[in-house]
Amino acid sequence: MSNSEGTSESITTQAWRGFASDNYAGVHPEVLKALVRVNSGHQVAYGDDLITAELHERMVGLFGQEVGVYPVFNGTGANVVALSSITRQWEAVICTKTAHVNMDEGGAPEKVAGIKLWTVPEVNGKLTPDAIRSAAHDFGFVHYAQPGAITIAQSTELGSVYSIEEVTALSDCAHELGLRVHMDGARLANAVVSLNCSVADMTINAGIDILSFGGTKNGMLMGEVIVVLNPDVVQGVEYFRKSFMQLNSKMRFASAQMIAMLSDDLWLRSARHANEMAQYLAEKVEGIRGITLASTVDANAVFARMPADVVERLQTKWRFYTWDAPDLVRWMCSWDTKPNDIDLFVADIEKAMAG
Ligand SMILES: Cc1ncc(COP(=O)(O)O)c(C=O)c1O
Repeated sequence: MSNSEGTSESITTQAWRGFASDNYAGVHPEVLKALVRVNSGHQVAYGDDLITAELHERMVGLFGQEVGVYPVFNGTGANVVALSSITRQWEAVICTKTAHVNMDEGGAPEKVAGIKLWTVPEVNGKLTPDAIRSAAHDFGFVHYAQPGAITIAQSTELGSVYSIEEVTALSDCAHELGLRVHMDGARLANAVVSLNCSVADMTINAGIDILSFGGTKNGMLMGEVIVVLNPDVVQGVEYFRKSFMQLNSKMRFASAQMIAMLSDDLWLRSARHANEMAQYLAEKVEGIRGITLASTVDANAVFARMPADVVERLQTKWRFYTWDAPDLVRWMCSWDTKPNDIDLFVADIEKAMAG
């Protein structure tokens, strides 16, 4: 069915809401407005524009010192470029087995950047100093891919959040071993509001060398920003960004989105809301017999265990993922999740559990 402008009516009439991913949500209206605002006149391309210069100033203010600021298109790109710039060709990166770079980037770190990943077990989604040490050995032995860096996701892929002390302990351990430290902050804002701390305290002051600063999951149209926090150990970000196809020629539109996020703390407001919705969902499902939470709910993800047949029934109506096992589910809340979405969802969960 098409209207006179040729667009499908069903696209609007079938607007539905779900819990599969924070990426299923649309773009925050304040971000859209910012895009329109910068869409006048000409600007120099490839990042030498006034808006990207303003983003740089904003980031310097946020981190309290000079930082390198490199907008890119997506999270996988941010991670691959960031990891490339802190490792040498023969070096490997230590991460958890459940890390997004390992499980969900289509092998991009290996395929695109040629980086060997040494994967280690996680605890509640987190890397630990002991796990780093278990892979950081055989330095100087040519047959072993030489550990060069670690990467951690904050918040983690399992919805937990590292405390500042935990981040610092990991950085200290890595640095003592001569490794550089990357933080995958696809959900950085959710972690910052969860810890109620400054982003500087959770990153640069906790020993992070380079950061993928997330935006898309939190309401941007597309874009993340690589932030170089310790230039002494980072090399060639600008060249990797170009050769890995992450250099946006109309950069002003990427930068304007992130400026909008940082304006009036939109990034924190949106993440706080998503986290609160996850808490609300967790509290409601925790009271349902037969359902147990599978992980701490520190940010905007709820992981739960429930009978696999119930999961299947629910998935005929609601979109969400199972995670590694048919009875383990992941429910994500986003900046636009409404309490009513959760009430409707939980009512269906209750019905499905009752058979
Ligand atoms: C922890 C983490 N890192 C990075 C990303 C970004 O990936 P993408 O390349 O899909 O933007 C995601 C998205 O799911 C993620 O969960």
